[in-house]
Amino acid sequence: MTAVPDIEFRGVTKRYGSVTAVSGIDLAIPPSAFVALLGPSGCGKTTCLRMIGGFEQPSEGAVFIRGRDMAGTPPYRRPVNMVFQQYALFPHLDVEDNIAYGLRQARPRLAPREISLRAGEALAMVRLAGYG
Ligand SMILES: Nc1ncnc2c1ncn2[C@@H]1O[C@H](COP(=O)(O)OP(=O)(O)O)[C@@H](O)[C@H]1O
Ligand SMILES: [Mg+2]
Repeated sequence: MTAVPDIEFRGVTKRYGSVTAVSGIDLAIPPSAFVALLGPSGCGKTTCLRMIGGFEQPSEGAVFIRGRDMAGTPPYRRPVNMVFQQYALFPHLDVEDNIAYGLRQARPRLAPREISLRAGEALAMVRLAGYG
């Protein structure tokens, strides 16, 4: 008996116009495995991650997560998370306000001093206290 893979690619190809970014990949990642995709720049690693995350759709083939075909499932309904290569920082906010952004959206609302305290703790955690 073989366990259902956490992630499976079946014949996945992704084309952007005339560029084939990923060509006919078959891959099964077993449950709880720690996996790295290695390869030269432009070989299709990010495109594979974006298809797992649901930010791109395969041109051919299918991506399965825990046995479920993810076709048509949007990123926010997939049981995965992605840390983007290019960070989506707000250019009009300083470092502390970028960190605090999510805390400011929290409901029920957090007190301003709580937000400032927690943003400061996050900076200290990565040894950037004082760079807010
Ligand atoms: N949005 C896009 N539009 C057109 N071509 C793209 C796009 N994204 C990636 N590509 C092309 O697809 C190929 C694979 O890119 P990518 O997945 O970013 O590679 P890697 O992450 O391994 O460096 C490259 O030739 C790249 O130029
Ligand atoms: Mg990349």
